[in-house]
Amino acid sequence: MCGIVGYVGHRTPVPILLEGLKRLEYRGYDSSGVATMNGGGDMWIHKRQGRIRNLEKDLPSELPAATMGIAHTRWATHGPPNDTNAHPHRSRDGRIAVVHNGIVENHSALRKRLTGDGIVLHSDTDTEVIPNLIAKFYDGDLEVAVKRALGLIQGTYGIVVISVDEPNRLVVARNGSPIVLGVGENEMFVASDAPALIAHTKQVVFMDDGEVAVVEPSGFRTTDLHDRPIDKAVDELDWDLQEIEKGDFEHFMLKEIHEQPRAVTRGLRGRAHLEYGDAHLGGLNLNRREFFDIRRMGLIACGTSMHAAMAASYLIEELARVPCKVDIASELRYRNPIVDAKTLYFAVSQSGETADTLAAMREVQRKGGRCLGVVNQVGSTIARESDGGMYIRSGPEIAVASTKAFTSQLLALTLFALKIGRMRDLSAAAGRELLTALHELPGQMQSFLEGADDIERIARSLIHQPYCLFLGRGPNYPAALEGALKLKEVSYIQCEGFAAAEMKHGPIALIGDGTPVVFLVPKDRLHTKTMSNMEEVKARGARVIAVANPGDTEVEELADEVIIIPRTHDLLTPFLTVLPLQLIAYHAAVLLGLDVDKPRNLAKSVTVE
Ligand code: M6R
Repeated sequence: MCGIVGYVGHRTPVPILLEGLKRLEYRGYDSSGVATMNGGGDMWIHKRQGRIRNLEKDLPSELPAATMGIAHTRWATHGPPNDTNAHPHRSRDGRIAVVHNGIVENHSALRKRLTGDGIVLHSDTDTEVIPNLIAKFYDGDLEVAVKRALGLIQGTYGIVVISVDEPNRLVVARNGSPIVLGVGENEMFVASDAPALIAHTKQVVFMDDGEVAVVEPSGFRTTDLHDRPIDKAVDELDWDLQEIEKGDFEHFMLKEIHEQPRAVTRGLRGRAHLEYGDAHLGGLNLNRREFFDIRRMGLIACGTSMHAAMAASYLIEELARVPCKVDIASELRYRNPIVDAKTLYFAVSQSGETADTLAAMREVQRKGGRCLGVVNQVGSTIARESDGGMYIRSGPEIAVASTKAFTSQLLALTLFALKIGRMRDLSAAAGRELLTALHELPGQMQSFLEGADDIERIARSLIHQPYCLFLGRGPNYPAALEGALKLKEVSYIQCEGFAAAEMKHGPIALIGDGTPVVFLVPKDRLHTKTMSNMEEVKARGARVIAVANPGDTEVEELADEVIIIPRTHDLLTPFLTVLPLQLIAYHAAVLLGLDVDKPRNLAKSVTVE
């Protein structure tokens, strides 16, 4: 949540900072700001409520000369989005400026302390205490002052600090909010996420919690809060610029929906042993004995990642015959979970930075449990702190609404289920059958996406409805939840997903004449049961939009609309049923004239709890 960019070097910083902010706008977009400084220590700050375009629009025609700067795009936690609450925040004496991601939990106590010292803060934010504490402790060394201030702060932070007394130096610190340094030629970059750097450098350094970096054009040095030096490795990003650009697509969400066939191909590459009907997964850090000893599995995630985990839990239990429980990360972390050595946990997260998922993973680890990661962002905190795991390889996901991560996470966990299944009761023939079906998925996804012209018309029929329901059974129950999440988050249409048979225990009361109900009804072993549920809602006047396989005459006769998806293995149906749901959500948002890639109140990686 919130995006940070910093620069120190020989170029004019504002264009670099604004370009970086735009690449991070998905992290928060209710206000933004920039501070620059020249070698003489003249600081200039410019902040605006609203999108980055507002900040850009009001820039002076002539920018003050500068060689360094910091910038921020905000997702409000404390205080409404307005110019005053926007970052950077400056100390009352005007000498220190800070951009901050995270939450200062003891900000009220610190604010009182500063007020007692005669320092009156003027914003509603928790952040404003930081530059003022630093200014209070400043005695000729910014790094020392930052460390003293951080010693008083409880909570999470990723910060970049500048001081008029130390031009050409950024002091950067991290605790619970990601920070990455970018290494250039006589210039250095800082960002909360790597996409902000990729246009300038692929050489990056991922900071860890408790680290402070002093960054100058010639390089950086890192220490902990007690001044002990820390050697950091420089990693190379393997993304291309075009992966974080929209290309010919109007929106990132649509681009990412269409990238799913490629993402599945990438996720499968080198991981399938067709001959043995088995999966090969490097990086799990589990030996054969440890694989045998797994008695239960626990999947921890939030939002779309949790829906992918829920869908995967059906496959894990079916293929591996291992009981699998899915936990909402924010619930698990405060529940005092029962962790035992025979349960293997996975933290499932696209960003690898979601605060609740990370905290839940740490709680499991604290209790002696082993927690692997299923992560997209290489080098993210979950990727680094987990005890091993799988990258989902779907490429950067920029749209706030997660799409390709769902199918890629499901794929990674399906391969894990296959692997553990093959070490137990799953036959080579059954493994081969699954792998063959997995290899057919990219082509099937592609052909569906290429012929999905009718979805816009169906989306149009939903946009003026007061609400809409999504129903499915088995692994299509989580796919239905995902369809409802997608539609509500980008179109703001009220909708819910349910297990189809659960309808009659309450939600069926919502059905009236013409209520739209999206049914996921592939021709799997639950087909007959799902059809009965469809009859039940039809009998009460619902307008049924069915997602079904070709030639399903039963569905054709009963449903009002039928979206045809290719037929696949029974366990793999969510890979295909979810596609029309993503497209319905996308088209509904476009038809309503909404900002598809940046829905209201949301941000891409939720790094606060
Ligand atoms: O980065 P993560 O996968 O951990 O994010 C989890 C959720 O915040 C995320 O999936 C969210 O629900 C998306 N906006 C859904 O589209």
